[in-house]
Amino acid sequence: MKAALRRLIEQNARLWAGEAEVVRSYFASPQRTRETDLCWIARQAFKEMWDGVVPQLEALRLDLTPAPALGALPSLLRLADSVRAELRHYEVFAALHESLRRPGDAPLDAEALGRSGDWPENRALRELRAEHVRAHGALGLRAQRFTEGGYATLFAEGIALRGRGGADDEIAEACAAVHADEIDHMREGVEGVDTGDLDAAALRVLTELSTAQMRARIEMRNAQFGRPLAQERIAELCAGALPPLAWSPRATPEAAPIRPRSPRA
Ligand SMILES: [Fe+2]
Ligand SMILES: [Fe+2]
Repeated sequence: MKAALRRLIEQNARLWAGEAEVVRSYFASPQRTRETDLCWIARQAFKEMWDGVVPQLEALRLDLTPAPALGALPSLLRLADSVRAELRHYEVFAALHESLRRPGDAPLDAEALGRSGDWPENRALRELRAEHVRAHGALGLRAQRFTEGGYATLFAEGIALRGRGGADDEIAEACAAVHADEIDHMREGVEGVDTGDLDAAALRVLTELSTAQMRARIEMRNAQFGRPLAQERIAELCAGALPPLAWSPRATPEAAPIRPRSPRA
C-alpha cells in the first residue's frame, strides 16, 4: 500500500475510534432513558431521509435530464440503489422509534421530524461537506462518500448491544440491518484509490478533507446522543488520541471490527 494511502486510512481510523467511543459512552451512560433513546433514533431517521435519500434523489433527477448516455447508466443505477438503501434505513429507524415509544411519547411524524430532527452540529457537518464539494469537486465528493456513516461505528456499537434484552436487542437488530450497506457506501469513496487512480498530492487533499469531516462527525454524534462526553474529551478524540481501528473494507456485523477500548471508555 502506498504511504499516502496508508496515511489516509490511519488518520481517519483514529477518528472512527473516536466516533465509536462517543456512541459506546452513551450506551453505557446512567443518564440513558427511553426518552433519550427516542431522541437519538429520531435524529438518525432524519439523517437517513434528509442527508441520505433527499440529496441523492435530487442528484439522480438532475443526472436523468436530459436522457443520460448509455455509458452513464452503471453509475446512475448505483445511485438509484443507494437512494433505495437510504430509504430502507429511514424505514428501519422510523419503525424502531414506533416500536420503542409508549403512550404519551410523541410519534415520529413529519411535524416532529421537521421540528426536532435536525441539530446544529449536523447542519455544520452538512455545510462542511457542501463546501468541500464546491471547492474540490470530485475529490470533495469522494471525501463525503468515504466519511459517510463514519465507518459504521454507530451501527457496530448498536450491534454490540445484542443479547441484553428489551430495547437493546431492538436497537441491535436495527443497526445490523443497515451496517453492511454503510460499509459498502464508504468503500465506494475509497474505490480506485488503492489501484492508483489518485496521485500522492490528491491523496493528501483527500486526507485533509476526510479528517476535517470526521472531526465534524464526532461533534455531530456527541450532540446527537445528548453529549455523553465532555468537550475536553471530544477535543482529544478530534486530535486523534485513540489508536486507529483496524481497516477492514469487508467488515460485516459478525466480523465487526473494532474493539480497542480507551482507558476512559
Ligand atoms: Fe444510511
Ligand atoms: Fe449510506
